[in-house]
Amino acid sequence: MCGIFGIITNKEQPLGPILIEAGKRLAYRGYDSVGCATVAGDGTIDLRKDVGRIEDVSAALDFPAMRGSRGITQLRWATFGAPSHENAQPHLDSDGDMVGAHNGNVVNNVQMREMFLREGLTVRGTNDGETCVHAVERHFDRNGGRMLDAICAAYDDLEGDYAFVITHRDEHRLYAIKKGSGLVAGLGDGFTCVSSDLPSILPLTRQVLYIQDGEIVVLSPEGIELYGVHDGQQINRQTKRYEGPIEMAEKGGYPHFMLKEIHEQPAVAGELLHLLNGSRHVERFLEALRATDERPVYLVGCGTSYHACLLGAYYFNQLAGVAAVPVLGPQFIEQYGQSVGPKDTAVFVSQSGETKDVLNAVKVMRERGGRVLGVLNVLGSTLMNTSDVYLPLACGYEISVPATKTFVNQAVLFLYLAYRLAGRDTAELDALAALLARTIEATDGAAREVAGYLAGWEEMYFLGYGLSHPIALEGALKLKEITYAHCEGMFSSEFKHGPLSAVHDGYPVVFYTAPGDESMMINHVNEVTVRGGRAIAVAAAHEALGKNVHDYLVVPDADRFTAPILATVPAQLISYHMSVTRGIDPDFPRNLSKTLTVD
Ligand code: M6R
Repeated sequence: MCGIFGIITNKEQPLGPILIEAGKRLAYRGYDSVGCATVAGDGTIDLRKDVGRIEDVSAALDFPAMRGSRGITQLRWATFGAPSHENAQPHLDSDGDMVGAHNGNVVNNVQMREMFLREGLTVRGTNDGETCVHAVERHFDRNGGRMLDAICAAYDDLEGDYAFVITHRDEHRLYAIKKGSGLVAGLGDGFTCVSSDLPSILPLTRQVLYIQDGEIVVLSPEGIELYGVHDGQQINRQTKRYEGPIEMAEKGGYPHFMLKEIHEQPAVAGELLHLLNGSRHVERFLEALRATDERPVYLVGCGTSYHACLLGAYYFNQLAGVAAVPVLGPQFIEQYGQSVGPKDTAVFVSQSGETKDVLNAVKVMRERGGRVLGVLNVLGSTLMNTSDVYLPLACGYEISVPATKTFVNQAVLFLYLAYRLAGRDTAELDALAALLARTIEATDGAAREVAGYLAGWEEMYFLGYGLSHPIALEGALKLKEITYAHCEGMFSSEFKHGPLSAVHDGYPVVFYTAPGDESMMINHVNEVTVRGGRAIAVAAAHEALGKNVHDYLVVPDADRFTAPILATVPAQLISYHMSVTRGIDPDFPRNLSKTLTVD
């Protein structure tokens, strides 16, 4: 949530285009509001910001015209303070000498604001990013104008997890601090920059430096200096060259990133399997999974990544006889935090590698001495850097807020690992990419029709049995996320234990079924249809099932372990088409952010 970017250059120049480009690359972190600030050579600060998406605000406020030798941009996902002009970032201090922006949460925001008001500072909004600026301002005013000391002092005052970037009009420096939220700096020819994460830096430079918690980074056009916040001592750490890919986010002819990313699934699944087959990391990963001494492996994730963990647990159990406990990040801490130890292994799964709820669980696992395995899509992320061994999802950037291709590859990765743990030949998985491609082709039309029906309902159920249960949950999450209708995902046999009472004439219930589970599912279907409900099946062709349901999205034939991965595709397509039918932009659903770096 929230993205910050700052740049300092050796000469005054048009900075608007650079800030816009960085902002677009950070937009997945938040799109409630956006702002840019530039500082000219004479110290004049130009601040433009408002509620809305970067494309719209930039056009309305003419960001491209902004010039200077220092610039800051911020993309906001609102937590403290409703989305408004005042709460949009960056923020000025009381007398307009400093400008800064933050990412994260300052949990004593309310108390700090009350203190500022008592002290006579000018507080314009209720956002905690503004609190970071005032927190620096009051120490700066008292210590005779030393930014570094003022920031160190402010660090002690500001409770929570955050990162912020700030500059003073009279000093040609940018300062940034990290406490819990991601921060990375870049060194280029005649400039340096800092950002919440890599993608906004890579178009400018590949020479990067990861900032750690409790460090202040001081940027000048010539270089980057690091200081420890507690002792003010300089830290000697060199930049490193990032060798990974730089991809531009283009829709490639698709109306939305979500649809493009759904269509990329066959290719990325094929590439992942290829990569895993030749990877040394896989052997180390498997070694750690085998070294659990009969103890269960924890599979930890949030949202969509948690659903992949659920499916992974079915795979580990049914294919390899390995017990795995799927668990949400915060739940891991609450339920197992005191009992895990050096013999335990946990696989932490996160597309972004920055989800705070997951990183908090990693921290607990570390403190308890357990093994930390990471599965992530964003290379260079915090999860990658804190794992004993990690496996990449190799999906390329996923821009759309709803996760699609990363879920499929998380599932493919778990299936591959279960095969390896079971000693099965992974060549059996070679057909998966082509099957995914056929599934898109085979189900898109029917998914569009079903979406048309579902669009008339504000609530519904997605049910799955066994291996299909995670797919029902994932489909329901997707539908809620991008259509704003309520959809509950559930283990199909649980439906009769209460929720069945919701069913009445035409009430939609979608049944996800893997081969082998059809007879069981026919029972569950009939419990719904005899009460007037409309049963919609997502399964491979099966005559008896077909005779019992109203609509049938037929996925290609596959074994029972591959089938749930294929069934994911129509689940995604149903949500996508329903979202578009309702006039919603599925890439940027209201209230959400792609990366949640707060508790
Ligand atoms: O980056 P992560 O995989 O850790 O993100 C976890 C969830 O926030 C994420 O999967 C979310 O549920 C998706 N946007 C749902 O489509």
